[in-house]
Amino acid sequence: MTRTDFDFGFPTEVIEEGKGKFLVPRLKAFVKSPSEYAPSKAPVFYNPVMKLNRDIAVLALQAYQRIVDREISACEPFAGCGIRGVRFAVEVNGVKEVVMNDISGKAVQIVKYNTQLNDAGEKVKFRHQDANLLLSRHGAPRKRFDVIDVDPFGSPAPYIDSAVRALRDGGLLALTATDMAPLCGVHPKACIRKYGGKPLRTEYCHELAARLLAGCLATIAAKHEIGVNVVFSHSADHYVRVYALVEYGAKKADESLRNMGYVLHCFRCFHRESRNGLSTLAFPEECCECGSKLSVGGPLWLGELSDKDFCQRLEEEAKQKKLERGERIERTLRLAQNENDTSVGYYVVDKLCDALNLPVPSIKKVVEGLREEGFQASPTRFNPKGIRSNAPAARIKEVVSKKVRVDL
Ligand SMILES: C[S@@+](CC[C@H](N)C(=O)[O-])C[C@H]1O[C@@H](n2cnc3c(N)ncnc32)[C@H](O)[C@@H]1O
Ligand SMILES: [Zn+2]
Repeated sequence: MTRTDFDFGFPTEVIEEGKGKFLVPRLKAFVKSPSEYAPSKAPVFYNPVMKLNRDIAVLALQAYQRIVDREISACEPFAGCGIRGVRFAVEVNGVKEVVMNDISGKAVQIVKYNTQLNDAGEKVKFRHQDANLLLSRHGAPRKRFDVIDVDPFGSPAPYIDSAVRALRDGGLLALTATDMAPLCGVHPKACIRKYGGKPLRTEYCHELAARLLAGCLATIAAKHEIGVNVVFSHSADHYVRVYALVEYGAKKADESLRNMGYVLHCFRCFHRESRNGLSTLAFPEECCECGSKLSVGGPLWLGELSDKDFCQRLEEEAKQKKLERGERIERTLRLAQNENDTSVGYYVVDKLCDALNLPVPSIKKVVEGLREEGFQASPTRFNPKGIRSNAPAARIKEVVSKKVRVDL
């Protein structure tokens, strides 16, 4: 890391990420104690922890460009220091233009500086306005983008409508949500307000967060007679991320709305089930396994949360790019390819063992045990301790207990 006090009026330094060098706020200068969240204290936003998010975004852009096999345009309406957008311009082949925008004048100054620092001036255009205004100005046919990466503070929900309108038919939309407290059921009212669905405070809430976000996107897109196809999603640290392709047409919108529905969850015995459709009238009130009252989450996206072919392409790009600490990304992508997320809600083995008062067996053994009994089972990218399976909760508990006995 190089220190520099290039005159932005606050302490800065130059860091390296991907193939670029970036001037960023010197975060340590803005916090009084290590427990303070440094990125939000600095005059311009920079979060080193989001490198993984940006790395995958670069891979996704490249995979998308190879699929469409022509020059593409991208927009980053919330640019911060510009690391993501400049990386798009510098690292992705076949990008002809990146429009980078931020409502903060200081951020736009740094974006310009970082663009020059990386010789990306020919491809990058700068904007300094509200993201919804920018995206709405790109809502006309010849002005739309191929890719839009919505990475705001908190919820992307207020920007989904304008982002969908600013995407070309077949375009790729990436959404980051960092408001995990609403999405994971700590603040259910806020989740209903923002995403139009009720969250559940379950052990698989990170998956539900992706489903609530994808559901919100599908519902908003449908109003414009646009369908969505979720090609990848993941959750890490304090956020959830969804990548979706959009397709114009009322039929496409109807098809994607058929993926909407509800999750019914029993907090007593871990049973969960999903119901497609938007009516809750015929829902059972009691758990079919233990008779306790069921809780209902949704409406949310019950369809696939990733596309195998797209994930395989991401993995190939990851291998080619030889990313720093790329193993974690490659592992996530391999897990996504093997995960059958049509069965909603993974089981967290630690949580099951807590309830059963048992020591914790290895995930690998439980997965093997379930497969031996003829069920589908795989680890999940959403939780290192999680198992996704089509087995009923009671059978999963049996297999966990059996594996613990074998271990003893
Ligand atoms: C989470 S940061 C973006 C980080 C960046 N995408 C990255 O990968 O490093 C959010 C940014 O959105 C900007 N912002 C907040 N509200 C905005 C709005 N209504 N329109 C445009 N930019 C906005 C903030 O100034 C901040 O720089
Ligand atoms: Zn039950």
